[in-house]
Amino acid sequence: MKNIAIFASGNGSNAEAIARYFANYKNICVKCVLSNRHNAGVHQRMEQLNIPSYSFSKEEWQDAHKITDFLKKENIELIVLAGFLAKIEKPILSAFQGNIINIHPSLLPKYGGKGMWGHHIHEAVIAAGETQSGITIHYIDENIDEGRIIFQTSCDVLPGDTPDTLAERIHKLEHRYFPEIIEKILGKEI
Ligand code: GAR
Repeated sequence: MKNIAIFASGNGSNAEAIARYFANYKNICVKCVLSNRHNAGVHQRMEQLNIPSYSFSKEEWQDAHKITDFLKKENIELIVLAGFLAKIEKPILSAFQGNIINIHPSLLPKYGGKGMWGHHIHEAVIAAGETQSGITIHYIDENIDEGRIIFQTSCDVLPGDTPDTLAERIHKLEHRYFPEIIEKILGKEI
């Protein structure tokens, strides 16, 4: 069994899309969800899907040894960041080197880096008059949004778009492609 741990800080719509996609797989399993926020929407979504979700404190994420041990005990093969907004510290990075991926709601390297998350990205894309945006799935390294890119796909930014309408279009792309790309990574196809 290939076990996935999802890290999420917010609403958790990507975590849910991934969990639903793999729900009936015999060889791939979303084993657990870890969060840095005990009141994140993702916990409720996971409860409905019977997937254990846990919240760790700021100090636990900063020290990261307890979390690393937990992930090892759970036999995790791939860590998937789906709207996770805290830093991944060295102990986790080195224990899972090359096995941590993130989704980012822009065409990196554009609109990445510190402060660029969620609606801030869509606001910046619209303010800059971009006609295209999209999603990037990438490996993570010690620098924010800089690891090797695995997959990108784009969508139009339409006249009259607000950050919310653009976010909705981007979320549709994320839900469609993220689970498929995870499957390909676990199958060593990409
Ligand atoms: C997603 O759009 C994800 O790409 C983005 O947060 C959203 C989380 O939505 N991540 C980042 O901005 C990371 N820099 P969700 O909680 O509904 O899955």
